[in-house]
Amino acid sequence: MSDLASLEERALAELSSCRDETALRAWHSRYFGKGGEMDAEIKKIVTVPKEERAAYGQQVNRVKQTLLQAHEQALAQEKDKALERSLTEGGVDVTLPGRPAPRGRLHLATRTLREIAAVFADLGFQIYRSREVEDDLTNFELLNMPPHHPARDMWDTFHTTTPGVLLRTHTSPGQIHVMREQAPEPIRVILPGMCYRYEAITTRSEIMFQQVEGLAIGTSITMADLKGTIVAFARRLFGEERQVRIRSSYFPFTEPSIEVDMDCIVCSGKGCGLCKRSGWLEIMGAGMVHPIVLQNGGYDPAKFSGFAFGMGPQRIAMLRYAIDDIRQFWKNDLRFLRQF
Ligand code: DAH
Repeated sequence: MSDLASLEERALAELSSCRDETALRAWHSRYFGKGGEMDAEIKKIVTVPKEERAAYGQQVNRVKQTLLQAHEQALAQEKDKALERSLTEGGVDVTLPGRPAPRGRLHLATRTLREIAAVFADLGFQIYRSREVEDDLTNFELLNMPPHHPARDMWDTFHTTTPGVLLRTHTSPGQIHVMREQAPEPIRVILPGMCYRYEAITTRSEIMFQQVEGLAIGTSITMADLKGTIVAFARRLFGEERQVRIRSSYFPFTEPSIEVDMDCIVCSGKGCGLCKRSGWLEIMGAGMVHPIVLQNGGYDPAKFSGFAFGMGPQRIAMLRYAIDDIRQFWKNDLRFLRQF
């Protein structure tokens, strides 16, 4: 009997020092599990002499009830505490404002292209989208470069496995598509888009890059219109004080051909690192549309004239934001892209 009393005391003391559900369950199997201490006491009943058995049985039962009840209660308390804990620790404060979702933005190349398009839109130019996969005929021949013409060396070309099919090396073939669609109506369009060249990739040249081609055709278009358009464009994009200079050049599809420089946006012509001490930055090639090209497009060169130009918007963005490596454009490095 006294053994039983001390067992009860010890069991209750141990129970009260259990700190979590796992400890409580371990306690239960220690006393009531198979071979547990209370389990042994219950089995002992049959070995107790007959005259003491009833009293002993009652005593064992009472202790059993007491312990099981205490265990039950402790377990319930522990569950309440666990619930309480999960509500406070892992709790969600529904009054907090939501986390802002990261918003996307336009790529620097897209933004620059849109700014250029907006300037030309104000000058009355529409946008014409031409194909990136071209044929040799349109990319070269109809632009006044017959097969084996030495000027073809200006463009290193990606050819496909289909003979005569290639990735356009410039946006100029788009001129032919617009003319053939519009002739004999006057034309004022820009043709933006991706071009491809089989060249070594350096800080200044990429195998894929954008161009913006311009084309204006009418019955009285002169070099003065070309110059006025370019000056207006340069001043709108780079500031009203910009000066523009024209150098004579050569392209097979224009006659005469020119290259256009703008006074350096950093030093205004004094000479600095950006303009390589020259004071000038090259911004585009241009010229009066060659009579043969007009003819190939369906316009009579005796009645019609036109100007064309071609520029690299990436190069323009590089000048505006002092970017020194053209490869940054398609690297998709967010640290670079987020700056704009
Ligand atoms: N297609 C030329 C190139 O990729 C650029 C160019 C020069 C376009 C003169 C023109 C032009 O329309 O008139 O180098």
